[in-house]
Amino acid sequence: MGFVDLRSDTATRPTPGMREAIARADVGDEQRRDDPTVNELERRVAELLGQEAAVFLPTATMGNQIALRLLSEPGDELLADGWSHLFLNELGGAAVHSGLAIRPLPCVDGRFSADAVREAMWDRRDTHRPVTRIVSIENTNNSAGGRIWPVDEVAAVAEACRELDLRLHLDGSRLMNAAVASGVPPAEFGRHCDAVTLCLSKGLGCPLGALVAGSAERMAKARRLKHLFGGAMRQAGIVAAAGIYALDHHVERLSDDHARAQRLAEGWHAAGLPVDLAQVETNFVLLDIEPLGLSKWDVLQTLNGAGVGLSGTVHPTRLRAVTHLDISDEDIDAAIELAPQALGARV
Ligand SMILES: Cc1ncc(COP(=O)(O)O)c(C=O)c1O
Repeated sequence: MGFVDLRSDTATRPTPGMREAIARADVGDEQRRDDPTVNELERRVAELLGQEAAVFLPTATMGNQIALRLLSEPGDELLADGWSHLFLNELGGAAVHSGLAIRPLPCVDGRFSADAVREAMWDRRDTHRPVTRIVSIENTNNSAGGRIWPVDEVAAVAEACRELDLRLHLDGSRLMNAAVASGVPPAEFGRHCDAVTLCLSKGLGCPLGALVAGSAERMAKARRLKHLFGGAMRQAGIVAAAGIYALDHHVERLSDDHARAQRLAEGWHAAGLPVDLAQVETNFVLLDIEPLGLSKWDVLQTLNGAGVGLSGTVHPTRLRAVTHLDISDEDIDAAIELAPQALGARV
C-alpha cells in the first residue's frame, strides 16, 4: 500500500477517461469565443447552477474575486464567515481587487443566519459607515469541515439580501458535494444567488479550472474582468473538456467519497481518535488533536511517516482528512489501521 493522500481533494490526477476526453477536445481561440468546448462547458454550468451565463476561469479564487468586483463598488463592505476562503486564503484579494472592507459574521459550522445579516447591515443613512453590499456564503464550507448550507437556509439568507438590497455571492467551489449529499439539484442553491463560483479541480477531479456564473449582463462584465485579471486564455478547450467529462462522470460518484469519509470517521472514532462524527456531512473528516497533547506538526509528521497524509486547518488543533477520486476503499482500510497505530504509540 502506497501513501494514502488525504490532504485535499485537489490531489486528484486525471483518469484515463478524462485524459482521453482532453486529447479529443475540439478547440479554438477562447478569447474570441471560438473554443467550442469552452462554450459548451459554460452553457452547461450556467444551466447546472440555475444562472443565465457562466465564464470559464483557471481557478476558483479568480471566480470569487471577479464576483466580488462585479457586485460592489470600492469602499463597500463584504459580510462572510470569518474563516471563509474569501477572507483567509485569497490574500486580501477583496481589498486589493475590489477595495472592499470586510466583516466576519458570527457562525456555527460555517453558517450564519438571515437575522445575523439583518443585524450586521449598516444603516445606509449613516454616512460614517461603509455601504454593506455583499454577503458571501461557502457551500460546502471548507474550514468547518465540508459542512453543508441547507437549501432552505440559503433561501432565507437570499431573502434577507433581497429585502436589504444586498448582493449574494455563493462560493460553491464544492457545491456539487453539497448537492449530491443533500439530494438537492445545484440550481436550487444557485438560483438564489447573484454570482456563483464552481470549482472543477476539487471533488470533480479535473487538473484545473473553475467557473463563475450569474446573469447574462453580469457575465459580460465578468468576461472583461477575466481579461483584466489575466485569466483570458486561448485553446482552453483542452481543459474545459476535462470539465465536461467530470460533469458526465464524476458527479454522482461524489457519494462514494462521502461514504468513505463516513467510514473513515467511524473507524477512527472506534479506535479512540478524537473525531466528531456529527461533523462528517461530505468528504471531510476533522481530527481534533487537542486531547493527544501533541502539536499539529508532530501529528502531521507522525502520520506522514506512517503513510497517511492529512493537512492542517485554520483551527489551532484541528487536522483534516479529505476523501476524493483517488482514494479507494483499500486506502480507507489502511488509514483506519495506520493512523490510530501511529498516534496510539504517541498518546
Ligand atoms: C471554499 C474554497 N473556495 C475557493 C477555493 C480556491 O480554489 P482555487 O485553488 O481553484 O483557486 C478553495 C480552494 O481550496 C476553497 O476550498
